[in-house]
Amino acid sequence: MFDVKPLLVTIDGPAGAGKTTVSRLLAESLGYTYVDTGALYRAVALAALSENCQIDDDARLGEICRQLGLRFENSPKGPRLFMNEVDITDQIRTPEITMFASAVSARPVVREYLLVVQREMGKNGGVVFEGRDMGTVVFPDAEIKFFLDADPGIRALRRYKELQVGPGQTKISLDRVTQTMKKRDEDDSSRALAPLRPAHDAIRIDSSLLGIEQIIDLMLRYIPVLAK
Ligand code: DC
Repeated sequence: MFDVKPLLVTIDGPAGAGKTTVSRLLAESLGYTYVDTGALYRAVALAALSENCQIDDDARLGEICRQLGLRFENSPKGPRLFMNEVDITDQIRTPEITMFASAVSARPVVREYLLVVQREMGKNGGVVFEGRDMGTVVFPDAEIKFFLDADPGIRALRRYKELQVGPGQTKISLDRVTQTMKKRDEDDSSRALAPLRPAHDAIRIDSSLLGIEQIIDLMLRYIPVLAK
């Protein structure tokens, strides 16, 4: 028998491109673990907000990071994120945390801390990592890299629909979702450190007109048969 090393698969892209659903289903069909790295930045944001930490107080942010015990646990409803053994999966989906996560993600001290956490999670392969800089910075040697994008109007509409039913449920208008998404994309793409952009060797997929199953089928075609 061949001894096949499980691969590292990265899926980067802007908000609302469909990364979360696609990453989860792709991991499931490969029998791999799924890691939502945005949730890790959201956890740091939650901890920093609850301690009233200023966004530019790097010393304090570093301290907060070092005290975070973060781990994912599978459940029938999908992966749950625990911070120091408290399930924070639902709490980190509010609009306030969403914007603060984008701000903390531009701080070098936070990125350095999470770089180590993420690499540890991926050291044995067999993981689908979803994020912004997975293929460019965290796992530049990942075997398979995807960059999932979609038309901004379609992404905003998808995010708006999610907000109507998700845990962070609010009465936010489509206009407001479009504006905040635009601002967040600009911030995530223009920051100095690990900005959102496709890796030079990423397979780029535009999900605007594709259904989830079509995207998964397309991705599976790029994965070597022996790894499936
Ligand atoms: O994917 P998300 O919306 O849950 O991510 C929240 C924020 O975290 C996003 O605005 C950018 C940041 N992020 C990042 O900088 N790098 C990652 N690998 C994942 C997320």
